[in-house]
Amino acid sequence: MNTLLVYEGKHGFTEKCARLLAEKIPGEVYLLDLRQEEQADPKNYDTVIVGGSVYMGKIRKEAAAYCRVHKQQLLKKKLGLFICCADSEKAEEQAEAAYPAELLQHAAAVAYFGYAFYFERLNFLEKAVVRVVAGANSTREDINTEAMERMCTALYGQ
Ligand SMILES: Cc1cc2nc3c(=O)[nH]c(=O)nc-3n(C[C@H](O)[C@H](O)[C@H](O)COP(=O)(O)O)c2cc1C
Repeated sequence: MNTLLVYEGKHGFTEKCARLLAEKIPGEVYLLDLRQEEQADPKNYDTVIVGGSVYMGKIRKEAAAYCRVHKQQLLKKKLGLFICCADSEKAEEQAEAAYPAELLQHAAAVAYFGYAFYFERLNFLEKAVVRVVAGANSTREDINTEAMERMCTALYGQ
């Protein structure tokens, strides 16, 4: 049993979630940051998990592109999808906008893993957006580890 876990974030939270999730997954896990040039073909794996963070209502570009390019293969796999985003009330809506409808329907788990603002890593404009939209002026982190456990149960039955 092996798993491909591909993800794309911008400031490190999605990566942190992917690494935490990988520790909970049984069997072999291949972890891939989609910002790297290398791409992994889903066909060599039993299970595939795709994750990305949301900026201005949209999932990161490479995570979206990976789903588009590999959609047919992903439909043949045990599939998990997750997003990281600050607006928990809109998490479901943003997850639905993030991934193709067929993949959302096919996925054994669609999850929201929480969010972080790593303030020192944000650029000037991002800091301004976070101050205005979320009222945050310093680092915040909220990881939903229960959602990770639920995803593992849905995908691996444990
Ligand atoms: C400039 C900016 C725009 C954002 N836009 C959204 C958004 O539209 N919806 C949302 O729920 N969260 C939004 N967020 C929150 C991010 O999704 C959250 O901080 C996430 O954890 C970032 O993960 P990353 O560090 O892996 O990129 C935004 C954050 C920033 C800094």
